[in-house]
Amino acid sequence: MSNYEFNFGQFKTKVSFCELDNLLPQTTSLIVADENTSYLIPDEMKESSVILPPGEIYKDWKSIEKILTKAVELELGRDANFVGIGGGVICDMTAFAASLFMRGCSVTLIPTTTLSMCDAALGGKTGVDFKDYKNLVGTFYPATELRICVDTLKTLEKREFLSGIAEVIKSAMLADNELLTYLENNRDNILGLKRESLEFIINSCIKVKGKIVEADLYERSIRAHLNLGHTFGHALETVTGFADFSHGEGVIWGIGRAMETSRELGIVNREYYDRVFSIINLYGYRTKANVDATKIINAMKLDKKKKGGIVKFILQTAPQETLIREVPEDILYKVIN
Ligand code: GLY
Repeated sequence: MSNYEFNFGQFKTKVSFCELDNLLPQTTSLIVADENTSYLIPDEMKESSVILPPGEIYKDWKSIEKILTKAVELELGRDANFVGIGGGVICDMTAFAASLFMRGCSVTLIPTTTLSMCDAALGGKTGVDFKDYKNLVGTFYPATELRICVDTLKTLEKREFLSGIAEVIKSAMLADNELLTYLENNRDNILGLKRESLEFIINSCIKVKGKIVEADLYERSIRAHLNLGHTFGHALETVTGFADFSHGEGVIWGIGRAMETSRELGIVNREYYDRVFSIINLYGYRTKANVDATKIINAMKLDKKKKGGIVKFILQTAPQETLIREVPEDILYKVIN
């Protein structure tokens, strides 16, 4: 497996593929995990760890305060290295706390879910949810190192595993035709958790995302492409109360809506449109949601308004051909219904 070093603005992030018995970096000052990943904390580090309850509802200031309080109790200094072991929530919060502690100490992330390995842990987006808005408060603070062992994926429930595969499909659509073909030809190996296949898809996603974030850490241009499917998907998650659809299921539904939008606008290559839906079906995702289009459109508008922008959509015309544009409301109604 290749190891990488990326330059994200003034930050450098090393990505290392490891074995389970070699997951922790040499300098580990404080570990943050949740109840699902605490089994990876060695006994001698238990006292220096914060174990949070799992789930998005704990992605809040209180958890950040717990991490910072532990850092103070341990009398850590600016040379400390915070280590986050878990999915996107743990990785985002550990890096956020590290970005605040003494105005920034180093952070190593050990992503343990498909979603965090393929997307969340790389690229420096940190933060917490605030006032009912996902990731409203945070910093750009890339980890010094990511340490990845695909064996940690074996403990995931199938739904959670598949939630992250949505980001793999997205990465392939955005920038890796070989990965798109691999997804088409290796479904059973991927869903059967074959190590070689998992390493292939994660390695590919790391390369895709690393290259995009190297070009645009602060999401002023091309990084926004990583939101393919997310504008529709987040609105679906919000409207359905974060219960019916996992993040990845929302993203896949959103990718479907984005493809339908491109078709309505007459800009997508038909063969590619069919190919995307055939991959979505191959992995057994739902492409339909019984939702009120007005509620979805309002949720998208409100989300963007709160963040000071107008709603723009990431659309595609062909594999790896992506554009950002506003979409007339009548088309939105048509593709959501
Ligand atoms: N998850 C999208 C991004 O990192 O920009």
